[in-house]
Amino acid sequence: MTLKISVIGTGYLGVTHAACMSSMGFEVVGIDIDPSKIRALRAGELPFYEPGLQELLVSELASGRLTFSDSITSAAAADVHFICVGTPQQAESLAADLSYVDTAIDNLAPVIKSGSLVVGKSTVPVGTAERLLARLQEINPLLDLAWNPEFLREGFAVEDTLHPNRLVVGVTNDQAEVILKEVYAQNLAQEVPWIRADLPTAELVKGAANSFLATKISFINAMAEVCEAAGGDVTVLAKAIGYDPRIGSRFLQAGIGFGGGCLPKDIRSFMARAQELGADQSLEFLREIDAINLRARTRVIDLVRAELEENLIGYKIAILGAAFKPDSDDVRDSPALDIASQLQAAGAAVTVHDPKALTSAQLRFPALKYAKEIEECIAEADLILHLTEWKIYRELDPVKLIGLVKRPIIIDGRNALDRDLWIRAGWKFRALGRKAIN
Ligand code: UGA
Repeated sequence: MTLKISVIGTGYLGVTHAACMSSMGFEVVGIDIDPSKIRALRAGELPFYEPGLQELLVSELASGRLTFSDSITSAAAADVHFICVGTPQQAESLAADLSYVDTAIDNLAPVIKSGSLVVGKSTVPVGTAERLLARLQEINPLLDLAWNPEFLREGFAVEDTLHPNRLVVGVTNDQAEVILKEVYAQNLAQEVPWIRADLPTAELVKGAANSFLATKISFINAMAEVCEAAGGDVTVLAKAIGYDPRIGSRFLQAGIGFGGGCLPKDIRSFMARAQELGADQSLEFLREIDAINLRARTRVIDLVRAELEENLIGYKIAILGAAFKPDSDDVRDSPALDIASQLQAAGAAVTVHDPKALTSAQLRFPALKYAKEIEECIAEADLILHLTEWKIYRELDPVKLIGLVKRPIIIDGRNALDRDLWIRAGWKFRALGRKAIN
């Protein structure tokens, strides 16, 4: 008989996981405490933008395999329960807030069948899974828990879930692995690498992976700083080192750095947990990674001042991009919006454009001015800042735009635009880690 699945938490991770599991043929119920979210999902409305997911949600709802509920008792019939709730950074410390995970376990344990398997997917500090397993078995000794970290990228969530580059399962016994192999049978048939680990290692894999990615980005941003000091070009440098397969060219895009709901909070919670474990020295370098990352935001503001003047009061600045990265409407810890609000606080008249993230940006930063059209955003601007590398910005025609602005100055905060094209069209082009060319 096919396994029945419940997914607790219908945020980014949960909805994607629920819809993808349903598309693999499982009967899936997605559960969330927020009734308005559940109402929207039942109607086939995705509360955020993710390429391909809206279509998948609609088709899986129509198949009858995928349902949503705001009651935890709807999980009762399932055999496997995925915990996909958020673990944001605590307001008062670097550590992760585990209250949603704890509540999910406490609410779930009394209502599910003996013999069922709870599978954690949320990003948690090491040691959490062992604690949750003990809690679960305190309520019902016949329940089991596994940890199965998620590596999906926003913008590629469906692709990454249906075709992950590896599957990591932290288990304490063979039976749990057998059940998870049944859940992921289709991926295993595609020969996706399968890594069985103990619970702490499975939790650590996620922290380690995101720390490595953050380190790679901050490394190239540190090289951008050195290039600026020495008159070099970081884009050429990145290309040159990237050909070494031990280094690899991906995640070497210098610019305003990483943001989003994962990398920044994950490296901080990793450091906080290492400190609790007495291994703080081991992750001390992540403090520098975080600092380099935040410095990139300041450096782009310094570039704006260098092009205009120290006092920005009254200058009109157009910002292209609000999302923390392209193909997403997620603005959590968005470097673009952080820069936009710092410039506004410095007295500049800032207008922000984004093809998908205007609604979410407006909710988080209501005081900023937004424009639906690029032309409206840049009209009479003293300077344009390109801060999220959407494809539509790469396709802009600088010849057509030059007549709209007050001064033709563009700063490419993502090193993604074609510099020669803009310069040929008469623009002054500046970028992080590259020499100024007029
Ligand atoms: C990240 C990881 O890549 C996923 O593997 C992980 O599952 C996820 O976090 C998570 O923990 O849930 P995501 O937050 O979607 O995924 O975004 P990334 O693609 O990692 O990009 C993060 C940030 O780094 C973005 O702001 C992006 O603009 C920036 N970045 C990325 C750079 O500045 N330079 C680069 O070369 C690459």
